[in-house]
Amino acid sequence: MDPVYLDHAATTPVRPEVIEAMLPFLRESWGNPSSSHRIGRGARAGLEQAKREVAEAVGVQPNQVIFTSGGTEADNLAIIGAALAAKAAGRPMHVVTTAIEHKASLAAAHAVCRLGGRETILPVDARGLVDLDALDAVLAEGPAVVSVMWVNNETGVVQPMAEIGARCRAAGVPLHTDAVQAFGKIPVDLEAVHASLCSLSGHKLGAPKGIGALIVRDRTLVESILHGGGQQFGIRPGTENVAGAVAMGCAAKLARAELDAHVEHLAMLRDDLARRLQAAIPDLHINAADSPRAPHVLSISVPGTDAESLLMHLDLAGICCSGGSACSTGAIEPSHVLVAMGVERPLALATLRFSLGHESTAADVERVATAFPDIVTRVRGLSAALGRA
Ligand SMILES: Cc1ncc(COP(=O)(O)O)c(C=O)c1O
Repeated sequence: MDPVYLDHAATTPVRPEVIEAMLPFLRESWGNPSSSHRIGRGARAGLEQAKREVAEAVGVQPNQVIFTSGGTEADNLAIIGAALAAKAAGRPMHVVTTAIEHKASLAAAHAVCRLGGRETILPVDARGLVDLDALDAVLAEGPAVVSVMWVNNETGVVQPMAEIGARCRAAGVPLHTDAVQAFGKIPVDLEAVHASLCSLSGHKLGAPKGIGALIVRDRTLVESILHGGGQQFGIRPGTENVAGAVAMGCAAKLARAELDAHVEHLAMLRDDLARRLQAAIPDLHINAADSPRAPHVLSISVPGTDAESLLMHLDLAGICCSGGSACSTGAIEPSHVLVAMGVERPLALATLRFSLGHESTAADVERVATAFPDIVTRVRGLSAALGRA
């Protein structure tokens, strides 16, 4: 039996249409887009088309799309690049982010501190929503950038981005948003939320790994963190990954055309899965159940279990999903996102993320809903026997 893949927030399979779109840029138009000859011009045309497609998907101009190696690089370029630009303008390297960001943003903010700047980490409430009073307080200090993720990768929580953007704009502070999990799952219009910088990643929506973009709506806001040739206005030097960019453009175009139907399909499957799991396991928690959530993520915690054991049994049953914890320095640590939301440590360590994607079906939900209750019973039995529960 084929495995059930419910880990699309980690990565997605490359869509067949995307592979078809890429192939000519690997086989024929493989030139360097900076070359002026015909082979180079073919590659340049593909790159420009890809910029247009990504730009249209998020409501910006094509020359505001800077291709990167992925979401991690885009987050680093936005946060460290904004700090460096502030320093060059004689202002403090003060960056603001939140306790629930992806590690790419949190680590970039820590790197700013190592460069002599400082960071402010905004708290979230129990629903996973950013504390807007804390935001207002820090905006008064005039930081170099505020970075808030649009959709959380672990819980699916959607931040009130228009409200956050309006507050940043009123204070004259640029807003960066990590829209890696929002792109293709909710409408992303950067003008509507007043975001100046926005990180995107291709492999979360059917393009291959290793391609992403930072949308830069004002080039004075970021300084490059890489040094080399002058490609992409010098903001991200280096010969562009043309086939990757074409793939991302194609995936963005498809995602834009399919958004409404896709959202409906994902939300229906997610809600069905949640209902069935809750019916079978009455004490199961749905994390951020009362928060605005993107349709592709379902985060659950199962008291009396641990995520590692659940994942192992699910894998044996052919079901692929993720746990919320991370292994650091040999110990299993609970997710920083759940901890920031005030979830108790044992429950945080008993958390799984199911994340749906383009090719997810009702049959996938059926297989999980059928297998999971027995797995929980087995893991609980084992935990009780070991005196853990
Ligand atoms: C919210 C978020 N930001 C950034 C990233 C990093 O993206 P990439 O894997 O393209 O570096 C991820 C990937 O897990 C993510 O979910």
